[in-house]
Amino acid sequence: MKTLKVALLGCGNVGSQVARILLDHSDVLADRAGAKLELAGIAVRSLETKRDAAIPAELLTTDAPALVDGADIVIELLGGLEPAGELIRRALARGASVVTGNKALLAAQGAELNALAFESGAQLRYEAAVGGAIPILRPISDSLSGDRINKIMGIVNGTTNFILDAMDTTGAQFDDVLAEAQALGYAEADPTADVAGHDAAAKAAILASLAFHTDFAYADVHCEGITKITATDVAAAKEAGMVIKLLAIAERTQDGIGVRVHPTLLRRTHPLAAVHGAFNAVFVEAENAGELMFYGAGAGGAPTASAVMGDTVSVARRVVSGGPLPAIAAQQSVKALAFDEIST
Ligand code: HSE
Repeated sequence: MKTLKVALLGCGNVGSQVARILLDHSDVLADRAGAKLELAGIAVRSLETKRDAAIPAELLTTDAPALVDGADIVIELLGGLEPAGELIRRALARGASVVTGNKALLAAQGAELNALAFESGAQLRYEAAVGGAIPILRPISDSLSGDRINKIMGIVNGTTNFILDAMDTTGAQFDDVLAEAQALGYAEADPTADVAGHDAAAKAAILASLAFHTDFAYADVHCEGITKITATDVAAAKEAGMVIKLLAIAERTQDGIGVRVHPTLLRRTHPLAAVHGAFNAVFVEAENAGELMFYGAGAGGAPTASAVMGDTVSVARRVVSGGPLPAIAAQQSVKALAFDEIST
């Protein structure tokens, strides 16, 4: 059986869970992938950081470029724009496939990275970037590629859903619930990215790019967070039989495609109104499939690692069965709407 060398970049919440799965389930993964997935090394910023005892110290290295240069598959879980971007470009340029959960990088440079993968014939997969464990990117870009998606509405940030849900059920003020949400470990290093809507906007750009087969970047997304939502707003919505959710919305209109993130009033009977705590859900309307909803754990180490491993096995299968397929080229003819052009 062929052996594929896997380089893991990052050993945080998600990275350590990916390492655990690769090490503990190597036989099952080999059966599924058709190749042994050998964890060749784990690139970390510092060797001094205290880590889970299950992570073999001999796998750790601070020389990420050397690790990338020896790998067949690179799993990037460093987060942030650099050095993650540089390492991904380095891997793709030499034809190694890349699996990443880096939503900020994809929302900023997704078009460029997909083009690089396309040119080199390598695969670039990022199911973990949106919705944690929820399989959503492959369904909208692959399973529904014979259909026409008209609208996507998603709760794609667990931290803000937790805050709004707690305000709705207990009547608490925003500031009181934020610390609790941070303690859950779902919030970004700087929770402003969550509460100001930036994290959801990055995910909206990725969803829209795949659903509408065009390139949307973070800068194309109108973004408004939840920091101005008060307990009074939430109570008034409740009184009217509604609930406030931070939604990422991407929809096709007569004039083009609008992508936006903002607090939205939903009737309590809407399927997204029933998404509680830090869970995520994405509601899709397609011409032939009709309405679909994808629901699950949108953050957290093990759930996100599940999505990373799904991509890794899929990438390995493609490598084993005769090399990667080219990435899907973006359809530049579809027009992205500015926020003031969105008529709905
Ligand atoms: N901060 C993000 C959230 C983590 O709360 O959903 C998962 O992307």
